[in-house]
Amino acid sequence: MKQSKSKKDRKTSAWFQRHSKDPHVKRAQREGKRSRAVFKLTEILDSNHIFIKKDAVIVDLGCAPGSWSEELRNYVDSSGKIIGIDLLPLDPIRGVTLIQGDFDSPEGQQALKEALDGRKVDLVVSDMAPEMSGHKLVDQMRMIGLNEMTMYFAQQYLKPDGDVLMKTFMGQGYDVFRQEMGKNFKRIKNIKPAASRKTSPEFFLLGLGMKVWSEEI
Ligand SMILES: C[S@@+](CC[C@H](N)C(=O)[O-])C[C@H]1O[C@@H](n2cnc3c(N)ncnc32)[C@H](O)[C@@H]1O
Repeated sequence: MKQSKSKKDRKTSAWFQRHSKDPHVKRAQREGKRSRAVFKLTEILDSNHIFIKKDAVIVDLGCAPGSWSEELRNYVDSSGKIIGIDLLPLDPIRGVTLIQGDFDSPEGQQALKEALDGRKVDLVVSDMAPEMSGHKLVDQMRMIGLNEMTMYFAQQYLKPDGDVLMKTFMGQGYDVFRQEMGKNFKRIKNIKPAASRKTSPEFFLLGLGMKVWSEEI
């Protein structure tokens, strides 16, 4: 007997149709990228003239499947360091230290601290987003929670004048968070890259030139 599609099935197939037609997905496949997300990062780095030194230390939060880390690795040489963390396992990336763990947990924080091995960070990038519950306010609060953790991490490990790029959502808690972030950076920009779907609530906050640096931890 033919069954009518559930709401979830209809949503999944609509997503799949949109995904397979997406020019950024096609380009990522053509160029052998792990994800279309890489084009958001390159656009932001290029259009904001972010200069990454060969010996830069970069931390990539929510790095799976790895397109940002893979791209960032091209900017540094063996004197630099790229560390990525994600809840999900991912295929190894040469020259990148990958941690499978929860950034928002003491274990994840400890693993990052050990991977940094005393080095301070030039750039923190975060493409993390919470798993969507479908409840707008819950998802929004989780997103802001991840943003706050990212900022806390930056305050501990970023070099003076270092930069942070993080995904966020517009909504409750955002204004307060942005104000707080503004106290720590010389300049802040809101960016919606072309590769970010117009229907997605995501955009990126770029904090340039960290002003404060906490004492040794
Ligand atoms: C959009 S994907 C990142 C794509 C990645 N920038 C790339 O280019 O391949 C977001 C990732 O954030 C991860 N994530 C969400 N919350 C996290 C957390 N608390 N700790 C670690 N990773 C998390 C998810 O598992 C997911 O893989």
